[in-house]
Amino acid sequence: MKLEPAEEAILRGEQGETRRKMMEILVALGKVFGAERLIPIASAQVSGVSYKTIGEWGLRWLASIDARVVVPTVVNPIGMPRDGWSEYGIPRDFAEKQLEILEAFRKMGAKLECTCTPYYIYLINYGEHLAWAESSAVVYANSVIGARTNREGGPAALAAAIIGRTPMYGLHLLEKRRPEVWVKSPPLKGMDAEGDLYGALGYLVGKEVGTRIPLFTGMKPKRDQLKAMGAAMAATGAVSLFHVDGITPEARIFRFGTEGLEEVSIGEGALWELFRSMEVEAVAIGCPHCSEEELLEIERLLDGKRVKKPLYIFTSRQVIARMGKAVERIRKAGGMVIPDTCMVVSPMMERFKAIMVNSGKALAYVPDMCGAVARFGTLVECIREATS
Ligand code: F3S
Repeated sequence: MKLEPAEEAILRGEQGETRRKMMEILVALGKVFGAERLIPIASAQVSGVSYKTIGEWGLRWLASIDARVVVPTVVNPIGMPRDGWSEYGIPRDFAEKQLEILEAFRKMGAKLECTCTPYYIYLINYGEHLAWAESSAVVYANSVIGARTNREGGPAALAAAIIGRTPMYGLHLLEKRRPEVWVKSPPLKGMDAEGDLYGALGYLVGKEVGTRIPLFTGMKPKRDQLKAMGAAMAATGAVSLFHVDGITPEARIFRFGTEGLEEVSIGEGALWELFRSMEVEAVAIGCPHCSEEELLEIERLLDGKRVKKPLYIFTSRQVIARMGKAVERIRKAGGMVIPDTCMVVSPMMERFKAIMVNSGKALAYVPDMCGAVARFGTLVECIREATS
């Protein structure tokens, strides 16, 4: 890999041991993936921030880093809301460890939004190079915005944040962003619960396509539906980029054809099979974190109703601050609107045996991460379940 003189100097340790180690991570990564050089990044997003997922070893490693990030760096959801964590059954020792992790990131100069949807807070531009780690944010940035990032591991994203660069390989290269599979889905338009079916479709497509880049035709999803579909594909497969003909930016610019692409078909029956009926103890919404529009929709669905089963709604504190009235009405109806964390990375939902979700990603992760059975439902069904 060809390094610039300033990069060589960092690698020799001229800017301290921590920056040397971080540069070593980037160079090793670049060599493994055949990168020719490093490129500057506009921002980083670091995952592996919850004490539930990184544990003591991760905490010690983060606390040992004595360097500051040099690009805007957002951290992923942590294992609890920063304030009032005891109300959600978070044990004190967990909370103390979690706050230590947050403090380590604060010292590094990271932004402590604790969200998997940094694109609701900061403007991300088409064509920008990023080093993001959270899989749902990566697939959104690449596909819906047209920015360029590989799916970084937590340490690699942090190294990129501290150096301000990332190895140029994979999805940073335009030629690696072409579609590889053509997905024919049933026509979702006009179907009941059209919006929620994109998450279900993503859940099934991810299993079929794995790491490949799908091109969807014949659909017109909105932004939140693209978010749901991408997050699910990133969870059940490892999709980091998809295109939707006529909708996503690169599909509009490059007008990809379907010739020569392997076809994957998902039947309508397979979609509906995901919506099985079963008793649940709680309902969780907001994977990825809710947008303003999604909060408004939840507020509308809760109008005149009272929550009877625990209803957890996860989003960022910035979205909560912007949506004060809607949040107040949701809380008045008995719903919990919770910042900083989510149903997967927090221990708060581990006491439930069965949880209803409206997210294909949560459907994939809740069983392993929360030890609960997950039931998939539309947003309307989720609110009905929580209020009846
Ligand atoms: Fe975000 Fe947690 Fe889902 S990090 S994508 S809400 S699993």
